[in-house]
Amino acid sequence: MKTPGGPDAAKRRAGEHAAELVTDGDTVGLGTGSTAAHAIRALGRAVDDGLDVRGVATSYASRDLAREVGIPLVGLDGVERLDIAIDGADQVSDELALIKGGGAAHAREKVVDAAAERFVVVADPSKEAATLDRPVPVEVLPDARATVQRAIRDLDGTPTLRTGKGKDGPVVTDNGNLVLDCAFGAIGTPDALATDLATIPGVVAHGLFVGLADEVHVGTADGVTVRS
Ligand code: 5RP
Repeated sequence: MKTPGGPDAAKRRAGEHAAELVTDGDTVGLGTGSTAAHAIRALGRAVDDGLDVRGVATSYASRDLAREVGIPLVGLDGVERLDIAIDGADQVSDELALIKGGGAAHAREKVVDAAAERFVVVADPSKEAATLDRPVPVEVLPDARATVQRAIRDLDGTPTLRTGKGKDGPVVTDNGNLVLDCAFGAIGTPDALATDLATIPGVVAHGLFVGLADEVHVGTADGVTVRS
């Protein structure tokens, strides 16, 4: 089904709907990506109207946007827990398992989203899937690239080094690391794969978020559906 206004309208509906969950005094995780950006802009408007919040950015991009729209920020190293985090996803399964990292921000996103009392995912319908099957972004220490690639192949995955746009050579993350996009086909047991990836020496963070999302807000043709 086509979404009136196209995918960006659906992303905006989802982002603005989730931003309404933020209340006075909250510490808010600010996700990365085009859908989370709609939530950040909506929060900026709410701050203009008097909402008292502090944001925790998950990337240079979300930090810059939050500054632009006037959301007061606190560094991730200055918080132990957050009240709520609003973040996008590249794929969402029926069980609310996620693949994230399309923006290579999943290492900080996972810290922020996992530390939130309430982790709200915002998405358009194209992100929904019965079973996760997109390549999983894996952030690796630059010097561990070859050993991690071998370990991924041992797990029957196919790793591809992510390369930049507007830059020759690999994407370098906000943390100074590289990203391998790892295809595994249909991921039947995301929790098991998440554990396998996390235990590979040299892996900083992978983009499987299992058991973290509390709810998913999906922008639709005429509103927003919420799954939890
Ligand atoms: C960044 C992410 C993003 O949340 C994900 O890529 C979704 O982006 P968009 O909302 O632009 O589709 O995980 O690392």
